[in-house]
Amino acid sequence: MSETPLTDRRTIRNFIVFEGIDGTGTTTQIRELVGTLRRRGMRVWATAEPTSSPIGMLIRGMLRGETPARPETIAYLFAADRHEHLFGQGGIVERSGGGEIVVCDRYLFSSLAYQGSTCGKDLPERLNRDFPLPSLVFHFRVDPETSLERVKSRGSIEIFEHIEFQHRVSEAYEGVFGDFAGSGMKIVGVDAGKPIAETAAFIAAETERFFGANAV
Ligand code: TYD
Repeated sequence: MSETPLTDRRTIRNFIVFEGIDGTGTTTQIRELVGTLRRRGMRVWATAEPTSSPIGMLIRGMLRGETPARPETIAYLFAADRHEHLFGQGGIVERSGGGEIVVCDRYLFSSLAYQGSTCGKDLPERLNRDFPLPSLVFHFRVDPETSLERVKSRGSIEIFEHIEFQHRVSEAYEGVFGDFAGSGMKIVGVDAGKPIAETAAFIAAETERFFGANAV
């Protein structure tokens, strides 16, 4: 394995990531933040992983349990989907380089936490080692019982959406973001149990403070 530390890599300045276990409300909060930034005249691209590309669709079939796959295969596919999402035409690198703020629902930290919990840390760390980091990441924390209830109320259940696994991933996230503490990327913890408007105001203020100090 490479000797380069996991956290020693370049960051993309106007790239923001939202992370957390299933059902923490990242999608709702991304919608809120994107609205706020656009009203302030900023150009924003809201995106997500897994993407809607053919690789992302293949992953979705596996997560629904329709296409059987080894955990390692899923780890490889998430990395392939991410590579295209970053470097493909109209992707994260191109758009952020062109001055857009890119806001992404999940990124490599999901692979480190979820795949780290299904196939061990080695493979996801290796597959994600060379990808650039966002400059700002919001880590949504909520009690797994509460978030799983939200997921269940939405209907269909994916292979990762059961309580023991969500507890494992929740702990894994703490380790992952602990590992990135000295990376130069700003990590903001979000109490996702609060009302939507309160959380949205907190995230908007943190983002404004960050970009005030690191003007886009
Ligand atoms: P999610 O954002 O929860 O999508 P939706 O709310 O539309 O179902 O993502 C789907 C699942 O994919 C989620 O359980 C987390 C998992 N995932 C990984 O396991 N590894 C990854 O690298 C990514 C990006 C997601």
